[in-house]
Amino acid sequence: MSTRIGIIGAGQHAENAIYPSFAEINGCVIAACCDIDKERAGALARKHGVPEIFTDYRAMLEKTDLDAVCVIIPAHLLEEPVIAVLDQGLDIFIEKPPGITAAQTKRWAAIAHKKNSIAMTAFNRRFEPVILEAKRLVEERGPITQALAGYYKNMGAMARNPFEPIDILGSDVIHSVDFLRWTGGDVISMRSDVTQFFQSYDNSFNAIIAFGSGARGILSTNYAAGRRIERFEIHGHGISALIEPPRLARISHNEKEYVLRVEDLVNMNGRDENGVFRLINGFCAETAHFIDCVRTRRNPSCNFDESAHTMELIEAIRANTIK
Ligand SMILES: NC(=O)c1ccc[n+]([C@@H]2O[C@H](COP(=O)([O-])OP(=O)(O)OC[C@H]3O[C@@H](n4cnc5c(N)ncnc54)[C@H](O)[C@@H]3O)[C@@H](O)[C@H]2O)c1
Repeated sequence: MSTRIGIIGAGQHAENAIYPSFAEINGCVIAACCDIDKERAGALARKHGVPEIFTDYRAMLEKTDLDAVCVIIPAHLLEEPVIAVLDQGLDIFIEKPPGITAAQTKRWAAIAHKKNSIAMTAFNRRFEPVILEAKRLVEERGPITQALAGYYKNMGAMARNPFEPIDILGSDVIHSVDFLRWTGGDVISMRSDVTQFFQSYDNSFNAIIAFGSGARGILSTNYAAGRRIERFEIHGHGISALIEPPRLARISHNEKEYVLRVEDLVNMNGRDENGVFRLINGFCAETAHFIDCVRTRRNPSCNFDESAHTMELIEAIRANTIK
């Protein structure tokens, strides 16, 4: 039986990652789409053969028979559509960040529970093949002892935070913070430092986190650095993974190193450039995971409760600032 989804938002990310990834899942039908910009919705509908186009998500929810809805719009605009989708008892997939405060995400989680809805935030790093395999290799040898998430970008010349109205931490560094929570689990204590390099808005977020598992997490980010560099480290018993996503990880085990390449993990045959981009960056796997959860009524790896914990850590990093 097919799974019928509706997509709200036909912007850049929807076009590059979300529509084509859902469209290639067996038995998944994009039955309707919506954007306040009719041309955008129309262009994606034509490209992916979507039969129903709306400019008002309420009309889409009312007139279309759907199993689930994806909401791919900026986080500060999520409140009303998320509540409307959940009120209808539908399953929901949203982009990161999952709202603007932890309290908001928790409230949505509570409604999802009440309605028995599958509710997932698309934290794609949890689905990148190289990261998943590196984590698996470390955990195969025992618990993770330490993880590092580093994110650097060259935005120091920008007079305004490019992610307004949300700060860089809540909008973009959230990928790194969620990675640390994913590898570490529940947070016991944390010390953070937030600062500004060359600009009058916060653009460097650093933290040391102690997890209940005993593991330690290190966050190191700076958006006035040399270029976009994303890196992760995962360490365990006699094993280390230095990850350069999305293409490779250097695995060291008992003094010997080898390189894990994404080409060895996934089949890219027949995929065009966009298809490869979606596969290696986890967009194919995150959308497939959601559809699988909808069909089997399984709780997604990054459900709204889990997302709320990441949002709590974001707020703690802001509040604990050493200045
Ligand atoms: N995981 C990732 O790597 C990744 C990458 C890029 C963007 N994102 C996330 O995806 C989301 C969207 O980003 P984007 O770059 O596509 O933004 P965008 O501005 O390109 O697109 C947003 C679209 O939403 C539409 N929209 C806004 N409010 C609407 C409403 N009420 N009803 C219908 N349509 C509405 C706008 O008209 C626009 O077309 C953001 O939350 C962003 O953080 C995630």
